[in-house]
Amino acid sequence: MSLPKSLNRIWKLSLLSFIIAAMTGFLYRYGMLYPLPDWLNFANIRHAHSHLMFFNWVSPPLMVLMIDRLIQNENVHAIRSFSNCLYVMLFLGFLSFPFFLLYGYHSVSIGSASLPLAAIISGFVMITWYWFGWLWMKYRNEDDSSIPLTFYEGALLALMVSSLGAWGVSIFQFTPIDSPLISSAMTHFFLAVFTEGWAVLAVLGLIWTKVETDPNSLPVKKEWLWIPILVGSMLIFPYSLTESLVTTPMLISAMAGMLLIILSTALNVWLFFKNGLFKGFIWQTILILLCLKVLMQALALLPIDIWPGEHGLRVLYLHLLLLGVISILLTDLFYPLKYFNLKVIFIISVILVLISLLMISGYWPPSLTPPGLYFWIMIIALLPVIPLTLIYFKSIKE
Ligand code: HEM
Repeated sequence: MSLPKSLNRIWKLSLLSFIIAAMTGFLYRYGMLYPLPDWLNFANIRHAHSHLMFFNWVSPPLMVLMIDRLIQNENVHAIRSFSNCLYVMLFLGFLSFPFFLLYGYHSVSIGSASLPLAAIISGFVMITWYWFGWLWMKYRNEDDSSIPLTFYEGALLALMVSSLGAWGVSIFQFTPIDSPLISSAMTHFFLAVFTEGWAVLAVLGLIWTKVETDPNSLPVKKEWLWIPILVGSMLIFPYSLTESLVTTPMLISAMAGMLLIILSTALNVWLFFKNGLFKGFIWQTILILLCLKVLMQALALLPIDIWPGEHGLRVLYLHLLLLGVISILLTDLFYPLKYFNLKVIFIISVILVLISLLMISGYWPPSLTPPGLYFWIMIIALLPVIPLTLIYFKSIKE
């Protein structure tokens, strides 16, 4: 893929972020078996890992690919403006990492003041998302009503909406109301709209660039392909709350949201399939993982005793989507014609990570659990870092 130099550099910084964040995930697994220094704790390691993945690994590369589609006419000024925005975004993402790792969301004493530095830096990261949205509006091509562009704009809308949940949590801390339900609901609203709205819609838009169908030739109105996902992403957050706190109206709206997401995603997948996409090992793996994502969500609607917010299941689902579908897709879209063997090794290692997460999800038969499971889980957590580190070093030499 021939990207302008500055956008290519952004991708490489994102790749570096993946390596650091994944090593932090490995540290978490290491800490489950061996002692960690007193100044490290699991909650903060998890925060450092997940925020760096969200801020620097998922968002900037999706944005780079969106810009690549938006600016097809070598608009140097636009590329410079977008690059500046993305550099600041990445810088703040890297800056937040040590604060999350050391202090999590807790306040840090600076002189006589005590400030939640990681939360403050996260606020600045969200401001760079608005900056990106503003640039998008400035440079968008109003005549382009293609399917990918429609998805990208739906994704950006979701990104903006998701940030409201995160601001809500910060502002809520300063109100006299003491309700863990409201605070937790706003956190999970942010997470759900960020992953199911922003990330999923952007990814589907990227896959649509491979199909290039005229919207008028679709068997359904193109709105059916993305609006249900956007609306659904805003309704499903009760599934991530503690089951006993969820009231019947909340559950019904979450179920409706989940149904919308499942049907619309399945419709997209069927149309991709009909258009002959998903050829070759890498794309077939992406197809299978996308189908598994839809299936896992469908489980939430069945009258069986499974609650998607259970920790083990949630971690498995998030990694199936973010490490499985999205990370594999990004790596292939940035290097469509290069590093085939390393990409295959990455895919195999990701599948091993997902199987290992299934084994500790609470739904794996104990009789099939191998001895020393957590040792192997720790080793497997390290595997995806190896191929992407090799790709990173090879690509910076180019
Ligand atoms: C080699 C790759 C990865 C490894 C080894 C890894 C490892 C981990 C570990 C050990 C945890 C804590 C699990 C727990 O609390 O029981 C975790 C949580 C998490 N990871 Fe990853 N991860 C990887 C990739 C990713 C990617 C690519 C993303 C997103 C783009 C991601 C997002 C998250 C999130 C959001 C959580 C928090 C889940 C929650 O508690 O709600 N991870 N990961």
